[in-house]
Amino acid sequence: MSSLSLTKPPIINKTDSLIQACTKVIKQRSASYHIPGHKGHKQFNHFLANGQSYDLTELVGLDDLYHPQSTIKKIETAVSSKFGSLESIISTNGASSLIIASLIELAKFGTKVIVPVNSHISVINALVLTGLEPIWLEPDYDENWNLYTTINITNLQNTLINNRNQQIAGLIITSPTYAGDISNIAQIAQICHEANIYLIVDESHGSHLLFNGYSELSSLKTTAHIVIHSLHKTLSALTQAACLHINQKLPFNAIDLKNNLKLISTSSPSYLIMLSIEESLKKLNLENFISVNNIQTEINQNLASIKNIHHYKPNHQIDSWHILIKSNNITSDKLASFLINHGIYPEGLIGNGVLLMLGLGSQNNDSKYLCNALTAFKGSKPQSNSVNPKFNKPLALFNQVMSPRQAYFAKTKTIKVADCLNKISAQNISICPPGIPLIVPGAIITQEIKNNIKDLSIKIVNV
Ligand SMILES: Cc1ncc(COP(=O)(O)O)c(C=O)c1O
Repeated sequence: MSSLSLTKPPIINKTDSLIQACTKVIKQRSASYHIPGHKGHKQFNHFLANGQSYDLTELVGLDDLYHPQSTIKKIETAVSSKFGSLESIISTNGASSLIIASLIELAKFGTKVIVPVNSHISVINALVLTGLEPIWLEPDYDENWNLYTTINITNLQNTLINNRNQQIAGLIITSPTYAGDISNIAQIAQICHEANIYLIVDESHGSHLLFNGYSELSSLKTTAHIVIHSLHKTLSALTQAACLHINQKLPFNAIDLKNNLKLISTSSPSYLIMLSIEESLKKLNLENFISVNNIQTEINQNLASIKNIHHYKPNHQIDSWHILIKSNNITSDKLASFLINHGIYPEGLIGNGVLLMLGLGSQNNDSKYLCNALTAFKGSKPQSNSVNPKFNKPLALFNQVMSPRQAYFAKTKTIKVADCLNKISAQNISICPPGIPLIVPGAIITQEIKNNIKDLSIKIVNV
């Protein structure tokens, strides 16, 4: 490894404006291991050089996202063709909006939906908005790293058997997870087809899988019904760019999903974001992906030789662009601060680890910056507790006594966290990343949940 100079940490003051704080981060950062995937590099989104001019609205000839006929229609057709779907739609309100739009559709086909407890907060928001009731599903859990991993097939089968008399519309799963764990989607899809329910895959973290040489890991290669991608996470589109793919013949179509999207999205979709989607499609060529795979291989090799650093390598499939590390010598929040002090910005804390995310904008030097810093870290003194204090407990399945919608819209009061034990929550609380819920509306606040809320320094809750 050649040595690269390390920069100083940013000094962000309480009095700084957002632009001042952002400018300091940009100046100090030497390696971006965080979302968005373009990492701020100029080879993407060329129109931003003249961004002010391209910030447009539905002028004559510029088409309409919600009734696309021409230019935007072409983008959606191109997305569908690149990703090999039956139909695709785009959104400028993130994968979150597409998750909600598809659950609104599912609410027409049943009253319940199977929801793994590691689902993104937008799934919980959709339950509040639609009135769909969750049947909670427990994924596998990695005790060592303190995180939910993949869908447990036996749990899923038992859940279906135990709820065979319920009107289940579908199952929504997250794969890859925030840590990169990939479930056996082909098998899950088959189970869903046999049970006659729809499978939605929140593949927000895996838009690159079809293109980086691991296409067999993409749920678009299975019989999953709907697949949702966050195009800004690992590809090069701007933040909030997302798309939804219809992957199987369904009794509803893109127009139905667009109508649902309209219910919950801005009526002024960003042309900058749509342009970035159009441009990101041009970057889906193998060379770009191979260069990121090479960076990942170099990081893998270097990490293996750094003594006090552990790299998350579970037995199941994992996306290689998600790199989760930890040290036995220090808590992950301190490890993350150490990296930031060296100009290396991770995506965040996941379980006991620090998540480093690669994206199309990852640079060759990123690996050297990271590995030099981690090598320098070797000398830290061992600490008694290397677990991240905020993420150290598996959540029990929620004890749902009311539907999320009923609880959210019920007469509620705000109380101190100290008094919330055994009360029914009227709100979502989640930590982002990974944006999975600690408590959901309508579930009982157990001692374990109360402790988790307290650990986040939250003082009041709605019950
Ligand atoms: C698993 C998962 N699903 C959905 C989302 C929402 O994506 P977006 O930011 O595009 O709305 C996120 C965001 O972090 C996520 O981690």
